[in-house]
Amino acid sequence: MSNRRISGFKPTGPLQLGNYLGAIRPVIEAQHRQPTTVFVADLHALTVPHDPARLRELTTQVAGLLLAGGLDTRSTILYRQSDLPAHAELHYLLECVASYGEVHRMIQFKEKGGGSGTRLSLLTYPVLMAADILLHDIAEVPVGRDQRQHVELTRDLALRFNERFGPVFTVPEAVLPQVAARVADLSDPTAKMGKTNASTNGVLFLLDPPDVLRRKIMRAVTDTGTEVVYDPERKPGVSNLLDLLSAITGDKSEQIAAKYENYGSLKAATADAVIALLEPIQRRYHELTPQDIEQALAQGAAQARERADATVSRVRNAMGLTTAQPAPAGSPGTPTTAPTPR
Ligand code: TYM
Repeated sequence: MSNRRISGFKPTGPLQLGNYLGAIRPVIEAQHRQPTTVFVADLHALTVPHDPARLRELTTQVAGLLLAGGLDTRSTILYRQSDLPAHAELHYLLECVASYGEVHRMIQFKEKGGGSGTRLSLLTYPVLMAADILLHDIAEVPVGRDQRQHVELTRDLALRFNERFGPVFTVPEAVLPQVAARVADLSDPTAKMGKTNASTNGVLFLLDPPDVLRRKIMRAVTDTGTEVVYDPERKPGVSNLLDLLSAITGDKSEQIAAKYENYGSLKAATADAVIALLEPIQRRYHELTPQDIEQALAQGAAQARERADATVSRVRNAMGLTTAQPAPAGSPGTPTTAPTPR
């Protein structure tokens, strides 16, 4: 039974602390125990309005931050999704297994889609995500809570495919971190911290300088009252800060709450912890050159390609598609040189 893992990161904006605590760190911590593949999901970034030059820049930045965060390319495969055409091919084949109703129900489409200019790819995006996962015979998908529904859809598609066409896919499951599965925006604790949130005041970007991180944390929206208690329902702002500290220190949020007299001292401690966490990542990131990053991505694509192509070929066969075999050299009707176009 495989215990292989995969995770993807969409270059729609600079990576933020939720990405790190929710997915990057869990992936990196387990990479020497479980075979791991990580990719920059640049095809997914095309589902919303985008600027080509900015997409290129963010793709490199996301890959660089994964490397700076500790991704070890000696054991872990890191690649850029669009380098492997197998993603797009399997996406289409799985669209022929998925139903309109089930993708239309996905929460992220309901939240972000709807207008007449909405790209069709935003609707079918969860099927591309299923393709990303199913290409690689994956057992576990470490993700934040917002992606759990997409992994559920992936399971449904894998099971349906296997039932209809034979046992081709491994059926994966989502793995969420115990703390920080949904880091909230500091200026609106009811919303998720996200790369593309309209205001960046409550989003802690991994490359924010220390003074910016401190300012954002000191200005975090807290709740009525003055007492530091862990109560996500009634005190979502304070509880979010406690969860951040808990994810960083490993202590329980309730125990951390008991250590602080007021919101100010809790915020100062959170700022210190976040800055100390990100400092080495930022330092390593700034030491990397674009060539280092490109080289890592090229090596990863070469490693991932064979497995991905083999999966697509199994899927094509199972679905009844025939792959033309190259005719043996010199057989009748085979031109030895290409015909001259007229
Ligand atoms: P993306 O790029 O939005 O986020 C990357 C990862 O970070 C997690 N995450 C969070 N975790 C906790 N708190 C937060 N505030 C927070 N914000 C983001 C996400 O859950 C995710 O794990 N569709 C995916 C990318 C993707 C993918 C895949 C992931 C494409 N194909 C295959 C896994 C497997 C996405 O948009 O992630």
